[in-house]
Amino acid sequence: MSVRRVKLCVFAACLIPLGLLVWRAVMGDLTANPIEYITHRTGDWTLRFLLLTLAVTPLRKLMGWSQLASFRRMLGLFAFFYATLHFSTYLVLDFFFDFELILDDVIERRYVTAGFFGFVSLVPLAATSTKAMIRRLGGERWRSLHRLAYVAAVAGVVHYFWLVKIDVLPPLTYAVILAVLLGSRVWFRYTNHRVGRASATGRDRGVPTDADLAG
Ligand code: HEM
Repeated sequence: MSVRRVKLCVFAACLIPLGLLVWRAVMGDLTANPIEYITHRTGDWTLRFLLLTLAVTPLRKLMGWSQLASFRRMLGLFAFFYATLHFSTYLVLDFFFDFELILDDVIERRYVTAGFFGFVSLVPLAATSTKAMIRRLGGERWRSLHRLAYVAAVAGVVHYFWLVKIDVLPPLTYAVILAVLLGSRVWFRYTNHRVGRASATGRDRGVPTDADLAG
């Protein structure tokens, strides 16, 4: 199968969580508390897509699948898409655009502060995800900026830890996965350093090539 076809399949798969939500809404099956249900599902998928995005580079290096790099942008944009749905649920359905109340909530409830921080960190990443923006910023600056994806993931995990009351297992699982991803980053940096970073290509250093961004 061509990369383009695989990309189409991955794109369709990334829409499944949204499709399931819409399906449940149509069937009137969003539980007794639909707003809470939508908030939880979109929050879960934001974190999952963030971690999937961060897993692309270590997996590519580990398995040697260079084509994987071209999926990173799509997964990252889906993380932002679900984060936007998550935040919009809060903004529109929970608080109905009451910005004064929202500001108080962001300041007063530490888990909302962490979530908000995570969301804000994702905005510049989505805004600079195009080929033109990568060229404009230059590979190195773009790469530095895109380290914010780790900041967003850490904020997302902290947000989850702070909001759960009893069952810490789900946020703990995400925290372990994130720690492994961060650890692999350090490990690859160390081993790359030893084989000579100067010879590394842009893709090796995490800057997408035109081929990665194509179609
Ligand atoms: C990177 C950004 C974010 C991530 C990764 C994220 C992730 C999550 C996760 C995983 C959950 C729990 C889902 C579950 O229990 O199954 C959650 C719940 C929630 N999030 Fe977020 N979130 C983010 C941003 C935000 C923002 C910006 C807000 C609002 C300002 C927000 C408000 C909430 C609320 C109100 C809940 C439900 C809390 C409760 O059940 O009491 N989140 N989020």
